Order: sequence, then structure tokens, then C-alpha cells
Amino acid sequence: MNEQFKKDILQGLQNPTQKKLPSRYFYDKKGDALFQQIMALPEYYLTRAEMEIFETKTAELIESLGFDNQNQFDVIELGAGDGTKTIHLLKGLTNRNIDFQYLPVDFSLNALQGLEKYLKQEIPNLIIKPNNADYFKALENIKKDSRIKIVFFLGSSIGNLDDEMATEFIYQLGSHLSKGDKILLGVDLKKSKDVILPAYNDSQGITAEFNLNLLDRINNELGANFDRSKFVHNPVYDEEVGMAISYLKSLCDQSIVLDGKIIKFTKDELIHTEISRKYDDTIMRKILSKTDMRWEYKVTDSKKFFANYILERK
Ligand code: AVI
Repeated sequence: MNEQFKKDILQGLQNPTQKKLPSRYFYDKKGDALFQQIMALPEYYLTRAEMEIFETKTAELIESLGFDNQNQFDVIELGAGDGTKTIHLLKGLTNRNIDFQYLPVDFSLNALQGLEKYLKQEIPNLIIKPNNADYFKALENIKKDSRIKIVFFLGSSIGNLDDEMATEFIYQLGSHLSKGDKILLGVDLKKSKDVILPAYNDSQGITAEFNLNLLDRINNELGANFDRSKFVHNPVYDEEVGMAISYLKSLCDQSIVLDGKIIKFTKDELIHTEISRKYDDTIMRKILSKTDMRWEYKVTDSKKFFANYILERK
């Protein structure tokens, strides 16, 4: 049994003001598969919007990231996944004879192996060095070489951190980089509730399943006894703040047992499971002001739903 998992879940469920379950635990095998389905949903515009940027603005990205034929580059992708967006950029770099190597980092060895196979088929000359490691450990290992570092952190992954944690994350990233190195950060932008809420509450119920799967995971791996039919997926979006929040709502007064501890839920009580932060330039500037990174450039899709910010190490 994973002790850290148990500790985090117990601590979250025993929080006296607001019960919480950390969203990083969504991603077991079933959760990974559900997230793949989410990315293909008609309502979940994020993946398509960022894909559009990579497909249609490859040259703009390459130029604004400062790639040239004089220097050597490390392209490091944190949470590389299946590489379907990045491949456009990697092909663009190869066609321009840029001297670079691609260093995808992912927690999933399976994903990395699939990615390597796919990219080697598509771009036979690509130098690819997959790294199945913690993000910061991977960066630590490559910090020493003198090549210019370009770090990709795409897919609005930073949006699952609150502003304080996002600031700390970018600060830490910056501390592993040298002056002039860059980060390409993919974020979802603030917009109308009518667009955002359906992305987190799709008509097929896949996102609900994704949220409820966390209860199954806690039952399966920690021996708890959640009855998932007594909870519902309950997402909200605060347009002013720019924050989508997902909850699980208890449909009745009930209790569960986890690790010998009884945890009670009242009818309509909410368990906070995830935030999905939506950005604008003001929020980005505020976060960057507490880091060593400065905003260099911004590329958006045609609907201005999504942005890739280019940040430079000061
Ligand atoms: C992984 N992350 C960027 C997704 C998001 O949009 O916050 C996770 C997700 N949660 C519900 N739907 C998708």
C-alpha cells in the first residue's frame, strides 16, 4: 500500500473546514484512459486549441523561442505524454537543421516508450533521450551541459496548481535554468462560463467518471468503502477569478471507513477534488514577478481560448 497516498487522502478528508482530495491521484490506469477520452470530447476545447497553435504557428514558435543555427539546444518536455503536439515543432526544427536533442520527461515509462517509438518512426534523425524521472531530478541531471535549454510545460498542466504553487513551480524551474534559457508554458485563458463549464461537465459524463474514479481508487488501493452512487460530480466556474473547481457532492448523510477511521459526510457536503486555473496577462505577470523568469512572448489560437507563453530566464 502506498503510504504517501494514504496519508494525503486521510489528511484531505479530515480537513475540518473543507474536505479535499488531491487531483494528482486521478491518474491511475483507468484515470489515464479517462483523461485521454476527455481530451477528445467535443466540449474539452483545450487540447485542440493548443494543437492548433502547434500546427499553424510552428514558425512563430520556433522564432520566438530563439532557436538558431549557431547554438546547440536541449528541448526538454515535462509530462511529454504522446507527443502529438510537440511533433510539429520537432519536425520544424529538423527541417531548419537546428542542432538540438529532445529530452522528454514523464512519470509513465509506458508513455515514454510509446513516444520514442512514434517519434523515431516519424523523424528518423531525431536525437531523443527519454527520462523516466521526477521533473526536477531530470533537470538537475542536464543542468551541467552548456546547451541552451528550452523547457516545454504544456496542456494547461500548471492550471491544476493554485497560484502560490504555480509560482513556486516556475521559480523552481527557473532555478534549474541559466540566463537566456526559456520555458514554453501552455495555459488555458479566462473566458465565458458558457465555454468553460461544459469542458468540465461534458454531456457524456466522462469527466464525472474521471472525478468519481478517485473514490474507486481509494477503495481499491486503501480499502475504503465509498459508495460512489451516493456522490455526484459537481463542477463550478468563477468567471471573475478565472477558476474552475471540481467537487464531489454527497447526496445524503453518510459515513465511510478508511484505515479504521470513520469519516462523516452531511447531505450536500462537497469534497474539493481539483482546480483548473484560467489565466490572463495580469495573473501571469503577478506570478512571474516572484520568479526569475520574465515574459517574452505569447502565442494564442485563433479563438484566443488558449495561450503558449514564452518565458525567459533573467
Ligand atoms: C490535466 N489538466 C490540465 C486537466 C484540466 O483541464 O484541468 C485535467 C482535467 N480535469 C477535468 N477535465 C480535465
